[in-house]
Amino acid sequence: MSQRPEEERLELADELAREAGELLLGFQSQGFEISKKGRVNLVTEADIAAEQFIVEGIRESFPEDAILAEEGGAEGGGASFKWVIDPLDGTTNYAHGYPCFCVSIGIELEGRVVAGVVYDPNRADCFMALRGDGAELNGRRIQVSRQDAVVDSLLCTGFSYGDEEIARNLELFNRVMLKARSVRRDGSAALDLCYVACGRFDGFWELSLHPWDVAAGSLIVEEAGGWVSRFDGGPVSIYDRECLATNGRIHGVLAELLLGL
Ligand code: IPD
Ligand code: CA
Ligand code: CA
Repeated sequence: MSQRPEEERLELADELAREAGELLLGFQSQGFEISKKGRVNLVTEADIAAEQFIVEGIRESFPEDAILAEEGGAEGGGASFKWVIDPLDGTTNYAHGYPCFCVSIGIELEGRVVAGVVYDPNRADCFMALRGDGAELNGRRIQVSRQDAVVDSLLCTGFSYGDEEIARNLELFNRVMLKARSVRRDGSAALDLCYVACGRFDGFWELSLHPWDVAAGSLIVEEAGGWVSRFDGGPVSIYDRECLATNGRIHGVLAELLLGL
């Protein structure tokens, strides 16, 4: 049977994410240049090289597709397919040698994410989803957890680079930390979402994300049976800044906690 166009693209995304992940590890062992985009927002030569590698691979096979990549911006508006790329999610971790980072590639068709891959080169964990076909980790079907009590949940959040958002999220962190089993802050939103998808976390929230942080991970959560929304439970797009992702069972209670209800 012939493949759907999004399946062909997911195959390529899988290859490119794995190779870009190896490239990131290579730079890490050789040493790399770091520059600052803001007070705490870093970019390394590895981010840039990994993105170039991915973008070239897409251009070779699907030259007509649009691309939105963190470091290079947008190109090819108007195309049906759009690749949304974070070549290195978890740059701060990467720069400090903390082994929690990944490559994230989401693929939109007519404005809706239909496929995504997140590759963690440190654990060789490859999370993937195709809309309607479920989500997998290294070829095995994954499912969100069945936890239904926040008090027994392991949650995760992230702090973006803006001082105001950091202060706002510290309040939320305080509030949730006192109600949940614990709250982690791992520093890679794409992996955080995948960990919700495979049940390692029961829920995740963040206030100020970008489309490349969440494009692949949100689909992977939904295809694993989880829910992804705004804090008020309303539908969320990858172009919105806030994101609440859970196993579904704790969604309402966690949303109320975040909203201070
Ligand atoms: C960041 C990470 C971090 C999240 C930030 C993101 P980057 O992405 O996902 O966990 O808290 O909001 O910007 O800069 O490492 O690609
Ligand atoms: Ca990111
Ligand atoms: Ca990045």
